[in-house]
Amino acid sequence: MADTNKNKGMIASILGLPNDDPKKTIIVAFLLCLVCSILVSTSAVMFKPKQIANKQADIKKNILAVTGLLDESSDVNTLFEQFEVKIVDLETGEYSDIDPESYDQRKASGDPAQSIKLSQQQDIANIGRRANLAKVYLLKEDDKIKRVVLPIHGYGLWSTLYGFVSLESNFNSIGGLQFYSHAETPGLGGEVDNPKWRKQWQGKKIFNDAGELEIEVIRGHVDYQVEGSEHKVDGLSGATLTSRGVSHLVNFWLGDDGFGPYLKKMSEAEK
Ligand SMILES: Cc1cc2nc3c(=O)[nH]c(=O)nc-3n(C[C@H](O)[C@H](O)[C@H](O)COP(=O)(O)O)c2cc1C
Repeated sequence: MADTNKNKGMIASILGLPNDDPKKTIIVAFLLCLVCSILVSTSAVMFKPKQIANKQADIKKNILAVTGLLDESSDVNTLFEQFEVKIVDLETGEYSDIDPESYDQRKASGDPAQSIKLSQQQDIANIGRRANLAKVYLLKEDDKIKRVVLPIHGYGLWSTLYGFVSLESNFNSIGGLQFYSHAETPGLGGEVDNPKWRKQWQGKKIFNDAGELEIEVIRGHVDYQVEGSEHKVDGLSGATLTSRGVSHLVNFWLGDDGFGPYLKKMSEAEK
């Protein structure tokens, strides 16, 4: 009782001070900061699970979009059930037993125990390290793979672009390419999101007849009269560096240090 009266007396004496009293200004500012920081940290903690769920739904949405299965009128989680998620050991190209639900490839890429450091020569995607394991998303029909979606990432001009590439059942034709996160300039490098540009990737062939990686984003426009145009995509105008980054990251992830061993294994199994 005595304490409550003492507190009330203290508050009254502070409030009773003139508004231009430095002591009152400092105390009011301190209390305001305290209340605001409690509000901000409480809402950050409260909304964290929702943020995680939204992020996961966005990833699923992008995987559906890159395979042409996104239907805005249907539930994303229900549509995504068509996919079988697996983990691939990138070095051997074999599936791993690790539970895909518990595996975070981005986290693994930063952990020396779960990733390899890429040499300057290997690191054409400018990512520094590559996780040992990667998620793949399989779309099957009658137990046969119809499409496979691979996560890809690499540096553009200002940022690391994260996205997906989908491949047809021959493991050579591209079904689609889509980025879900980057910070390239809107209207320049940001045109990687332009549906017209993305559409060009559909049907492009990754490997030539000799089995060599030949997919490339070129500078300027593709001449369809010239041999090899089935491996080439137009560069983005005014964004040569982002275009080059995309070309490099696609080559990295479809090459020997990325999903190459897995793709080789899968296409041999299909024969
Ligand atoms: C504000 C600003 C933003 C830019 N953003 C990008 C970008 O996102 N991607 C890119 O490749 N080039 C971007 N550029 C252009 C590059 O600096 C560089 O000039 C260009 O990639 C050269 O290629 P070009 O032959 O296509 O012009 C930007 C330039 C400026 C001034």
